[in-house]
Amino acid sequence: MSIFFNEEKNIFTLQTKNSTYQMKVDEFDFLIHLYYGNKIEQGNMEYLITKTDISFSGNPFEANDRTFSLDVIPQEYSSVGIGDYRISSMNLIEENGCNVFEPKYIGYKIKDGVKKIEGMPYIYDNQDKPKTLEIYLKDKITNIELVLNYTIFYDMDIIARSVTLKNNSNSIIKLNKIMSSCLDFYYKDLEIIHFYGRHAMERMTERRGLPYGITSICSKRGTSSHQHNPSVILCEKNTTEDFGNCYGMALVYSGNFLIEIEKDQLEQIRANIGINPENFSYEVKKGEIFETPQVLITFSNEGLSKLSHNFHKAIRNNICRGKYKLQRRPILINNWEATYFDFDEEKILNIAKQASDLGIEMFVLDDGWFGKRDDDNSGLGDWFVNKNKLKNGLAHLVKNINNMGMKFGIWFEPEMISEDSDLFRKNPDWVVKVPNRNPNKSRNQLVLDMSRKDVRDYLFSCISSILDSANIEYIKWDMNRSICDAFSSVLSKDKQGEFYHRYILGLYELLEKIVVKYPNILLEGCSGGGGRFDIGMLYYFPQIWCSDNTDAIERLEIQYGTSFIYPICSVGSHVSAIPNHQTGRKTNIDTRAIVAMSGSFGYEMDLGIIEKEEKIKVKQQIKEYLKYQSIIHNGLYYRLSEPNSKDWYTAWQFVSEDLKESLLNIVVTKLGPNRLNLNIKLKGLDKNKKYKIQNDKKIYTGDMLMNGGIVLKNPFGDFPAYQLYIKEMEG
Ligand code: DGJ
Repeated sequence: MSIFFNEEKNIFTLQTKNSTYQMKVDEFDFLIHLYYGNKIEQGNMEYLITKTDISFSGNPFEANDRTFSLDVIPQEYSSVGIGDYRISSMNLIEENGCNVFEPKYIGYKIKDGVKKIEGMPYIYDNQDKPKTLEIYLKDKITNIELVLNYTIFYDMDIIARSVTLKNNSNSIIKLNKIMSSCLDFYYKDLEIIHFYGRHAMERMTERRGLPYGITSICSKRGTSSHQHNPSVILCEKNTTEDFGNCYGMALVYSGNFLIEIEKDQLEQIRANIGINPENFSYEVKKGEIFETPQVLITFSNEGLSKLSHNFHKAIRNNICRGKYKLQRRPILINNWEATYFDFDEEKILNIAKQASDLGIEMFVLDDGWFGKRDDDNSGLGDWFVNKNKLKNGLAHLVKNINNMGMKFGIWFEPEMISEDSDLFRKNPDWVVKVPNRNPNKSRNQLVLDMSRKDVRDYLFSCISSILDSANIEYIKWDMNRSICDAFSSVLSKDKQGEFYHRYILGLYELLEKIVVKYPNILLEGCSGGGGRFDIGMLYYFPQIWCSDNTDAIERLEIQYGTSFIYPICSVGSHVSAIPNHQTGRKTNIDTRAIVAMSGSFGYEMDLGIIEKEEKIKVKQQIKEYLKYQSIIHNGLYYRLSEPNSKDWYTAWQFVSEDLKESLLNIVVTKLGPNRLNLNIKLKGLDKNKKYKIQNDKKIYTGDMLMNGGIVLKNPFGDFPAYQLYIKEMEG
C-alpha cells in the first residue's frame, strides 16, 4: 500500500520505497502540509507544525485564534486572498471581480491506476500498479472545487501531481494562475540547482543558496526554451552526488512555465511549479473543468545520482512510448552540417553510400528538401518535394537508400511558416499575429497558429502524405523560434489569454494523431537543438536533439546538465566534422565519438571526405556503440566530475542494473604537465564482485575500483578521451 488515510487524525500519508509525504486536514478543514522527505515508517509529523502569534500574519475568522495563521502554517496548495501572503498557487477571478478563494477539504478517493490528463502528456502505468489519491477541496461560497491529484509510483519514488479545477459555480470564472503543485518546506535551508542556458549552450547548471524573497525561473517564449528548463532540484547544503537529501521537480509540459521559490520572513520555503501565469488567463464556464499539466516529484536521501536515477527510470519506462521506447535506435547520419541547404539527389546518395559502407544504419535528410528552400528565408509550410533538388522525387531517393541497407528519416518544421511560401500567400490569417500590427520575425519565419483546427488538419494531411509516399522510418520535428505576438484570429477577445496554452494543446493533439497513425516511426524532437527538451515532448519523441552545439568539449557540459533529469537514451548526439562548425575546435575523432556515444548516437558530417584512418575508426566506433548500447540506454548513470571545478577531467559512468558490466568514459579537459597520474573513483559497482577492465590484466574488486579507483598514466594530446569497458569476472 502506498496511500493511507488516518480517519481519526485526518492525516494522509503517501509512502514510496524511500520517502514519505504527509498532509492533514485541520480543525477548520484547511489542508496543511506536514512532511516530505526520508521515509518515516510510522508516525504523525503534526508535532512539527508551529502555532504562534506572528505579527502581521492574520487569522481565519472562524479560528478565532491569534496563533493560527495560514501565513505561517505550511499549506498543501496555497490560495489567494485569505491571509497567506506567500506566493499563491492559484488566482481566479469571479464574475463580480472577487479574487478571494478559500478551498476547504470535503473528501477524498483512492483509485487504482494513474491520473490521465485529457489532451496532455502524463505518466502512465507500466505494470507498476500505481495508485492515485484525489483530494477534494471546495470554496463554500462559490462551490468551485479543486481536486489535488497524487499518483504514487512506489518503487521509483515518484509522485505525480496535478490539479483539476471544476467550476460548479453559477457563473463564468477567469483563471489567472493555476500551478500544478505547491510544496512547502520548513526548518530547512535549501539550495537550488537549476538549468539555464541559451541556443547552442543549453542546460548549464547553477547551484546556489536561496535568497530571501522570490526566485523565479520561467519561460514565456511559447516553448519550454533553451534559456531555462522546466525542472529544478532543491537540496540540503551538504548534498553531493552520493549523499544527502534532495528533491526534484520536473514539469510534464512544453510551453510557458514558471518555477517560483520563496524563502519567507520565517525562513520557510515554498516551491510552486506550473504554467506561467504571465500571458495566461483562462475562462472556465459553469460546469467546465480545467486541468493543469502534471509535475513529477521525487526525493532522494542518497544524493543527486539517485535522484537522477529515479527520473531516468520514470521517463524511460513511463513517459516515453512507441516502438523505440526501449529498443535500440538506429545509428544515423544526418546531412545538416555536411550540406546545409546546398544539396541534390546525387550529393545525398553519395553521403548515404559512404555512411552505409561504414556501417551506419539510417540516413536523415534534414532541412531544405521541400518547397522553395535554398536558405532559411523561404519555403516553410510548403511540405511538398523540391524537384530541383530531388529530381526523381522522394520515393526514388528513399528506395535507393533502402537498397544500400539503410533506413530513411526526414526533417519537418511543421509549426512554422515563411512569408515567402505558397501556404502564406494562400492563408495569411493562419499566422500568429495581432491584427493591425506587424509580427516579430525570427530566423525570418513566422509561427502557425496551432490552436486552429484547420491549421492542424492541414499539417496532419501534408505530413501524412509525405510519410505515405515513401518508406520513411524517422522524423526530426524541429521548431526554430520563440513565440510572441500572442493572438489568435479564432479566439474571442475574452479568450486571447488562452493562446499559449491552446497552442501547446494543439501541438499535443497533432503529435498524438501522428504517433497513433505511425506507431513504427521513430520521432526525434528538436527546437534549434535542445530548446524544447522537456518531459512533455518525451511523451511523443523518445529522443530530442540535445543541442545545435556539436563540439564534443562543449557538449560535455550540456550533456552533464541534461543528465540530472533526462535519461541518456533521450539525448540525441552526433559526431560532427572538424573544425567544429560552432567553435572551430579540432577535437580528435575518438574524443568526439566517446562524447556522442552517451546518447542516441549518430554522425553529422560527410564521411566521404575524411581520412582513411578515420574511416577505420568510424567502423570501430559503430561496433563499440552496438556493444555498449544496452548499458548506455538502460544502465544507471553516474556523474564522476563537475564542470568548472578543479577536476582536470570530465568523467561519467554507466553501470548495468545487475552490476555485472560498466562503461567508464573520461575526457581530459585540463591537461598540465608535472602531475601525478589521473585517478578516478568509480561508482555503483558491487563491492564484492571481481571485475576486469578491458586491456588490463589486473583483477579488481568493486571495493577497489570504488575506493582506490583506476589510474590513467600520462594522458597526452588534445582533449584525450578514454572509454573503458568493465565486466564482472566469469566463474
Ligand atoms: C535547427 C536544428 O537544431 C538543426 O539540427 C537543423 O535541423 C536546422 N534547424 C535546420 O534548419
